Amino acid sequence: MKAFLEQAKQQPCMEQVRQTLPRVVSAPLIHARMLNSLSRMEYVGVRKMLKARHADHMDLDGLEHIIEEASHALRLKRAAIKLQGGERGIQTYSAADTLAGDGAEDYLQGVDRACEAVLDRYLATLGEEALPASRRTEANYLLSSAVIEIRADAFYPLYEEALQAAGAPFSVRSIIKDEERHLAEMAERLQEFFPQDWRALVAEALNAEQACFDCWASVMADAATEAEAALAPKA
Ligand SMILES: [Fe+2]
Ligand SMILES: [Fe+2]
Repeated sequence: MKAFLEQAKQQPCMEQVRQTLPRVVSAPLIHARMLNSLSRMEYVGVRKMLKARHADHMDLDGLEHIIEEASHALRLKRAAIKLQGGERGIQTYSAADTLAGDGAEDYLQGVDRACEAVLDRYLATLGEEALPASRRTEANYLLSSAVIEIRADAFYPLYEEALQAAGAPFSVRSIIKDEERHLAEMAERLQEFFPQDWRALVAEALNAEQACFDCWASVMADAATEAEAALAPKA
């Protein structure tokens, strides 16, 4: 997985994020909305896990994963509320309270669909019986979580760097620790689930995920530019 993480870190979309983050972090009203978008991503991730995971597969690690992602959503939203989001503050995950919030949700929906398509292609060569329907949602959970955790492990350290550089009053170090552990868990489970093919599956899923993240990085940069223009003093 380390090689996949290095690959994700080197992609051009991460350079775009590296350039956008300091601009956003330096403007508290815009930063609050971006933090709330990150919170929305964590929340949508939780919603997906609750839907995807059958009781037959739900163990202690699975429950902890859900609770920890929910706690990321909570901590990020609390930080957003502290930073303030304009006169009405940060409330829900609506467009006014987020920065490209729909783009954040689209990222997760896109990764979910892309992983479904990767598994469809995989089973088309092996035959549907290679993966009974009862294990199919579990396979998607493992594959989509693995690539999302790879991206989280590439993204959050960049964000932490931007927070430190700006002397922000909070840190995402504890989230980074959780995400690193999640990736290790997903890697282990995926290797048990697909002992021969996990590398090929992750490589294909990560390619598709990159396109989704690329989109998010662009809509986030555009939304930041738009929000900066709206806040700029009128001539
Ligand atoms: Fe998370
Ligand atoms: Fe995670």
